[in-house]
Amino acid sequence: MMMPRAVRQASQPAEYRLFDQLPPPSAMLDEVIAGLTQQPKRIAPKFFYDERGSRLFEAITGLPEYYLTRTEMGLFDACLPEVHDRIGGGGCLVEYGAGSSVKIRRLLEELQPRTYLPVDISRRHLEQSAQALHADYPHLSVYPICADMTAPFELPAVVAGLDKLGFYPGSSIGNFEPGDAQAFLRQVATTLGAGGRLLIGVDRKKDVNVLEAAYNDSAGITAEFNLNILRHLNSALATEIDPAGFRHRADYNEESGCVQMFLECVKDQSSRVDGRIIDFAEGELVHTENSYKYGHEQFADLAAGGGFKVEASWSDADAYFTLFLLIAQ
Ligand code: AVI
Repeated sequence: MMMPRAVRQASQPAEYRLFDQLPPPSAMLDEVIAGLTQQPKRIAPKFFYDERGSRLFEAITGLPEYYLTRTEMGLFDACLPEVHDRIGGGGCLVEYGAGSSVKIRRLLEELQPRTYLPVDISRRHLEQSAQALHADYPHLSVYPICADMTAPFELPAVVAGLDKLGFYPGSSIGNFEPGDAQAFLRQVATTLGAGGRLLIGVDRKKDVNVLEAAYNDSAGITAEFNLNILRHLNSALATEIDPAGFRHRADYNEESGCVQMFLECVKDQSSRVDGRIIDFAEGELVHTENSYKYGHEQFADLAAGGGFKVEASWSDADAYFTLFLLIAQ
């Protein structure tokens, strides 16, 4: 096995420190109850990502139908050397969502930052991946931040003054409603500061069959991932919602331009959620995720409303996926 090339800033000893800014479980529970008592019912997609959910998502990224990850990584060959030419090494890399370790290792090796700050809501997943990177890149300071990145959070004072590059891969921006995506980008622009850059992956609009296959894989991993949201709530918040009472559904909604995921209730049932009873009717849909797909200009406009200008972009030959390098105004 090839050993990772060490990141080359040796002037200061590297540090590892976890910053915990996670909201208390009571706030999570309030949010879940609010979603399950509205019509139609919904559970926010951030609740997919407990340790098992993060592992299932990692498995999704390797599925033949899920073209997003391999297409995005195919763009790194052209994109990363150019990003390095523009920003140089020695800065601070902030990863929104501690996702694929394969992607982040490519960035660490090609961009040579001095500090790395992964931000994730799943503490175990965050710590495991951050500790592995700290061990493999001894000259890199690693400051994992356990936080709900959909709400404002602070960067630790130790990175003040360093040039910032945000990294938000995988088209996770598509999991926000467009207005919320813009608000999120505005918050990222504030966190990174004027002149800070964001490298962001965006899935493009395309043939509906390609889109629907990506979210209805033949191995059933996406279905497991979707149902795992209930297991996560049951273990983290002591809800009692039986995953066997639901099945996975994912359809492309042409009008809104997003793949929508639901858990469809297969029988009438009642579940206990923190002392109250929630009724589910057979055929009822619980909305769990939207995954918006964007045109190139459409995304550039969204980014502009979020306080960013497009500095460069890279797309594959089929225009399935685009990496945008944005700069905060
Ligand atoms: C994390 N996010 C970009 C994925 C997506 O494609 O929207 C989550 C996912 N849901 C089902 N499959 C993958």
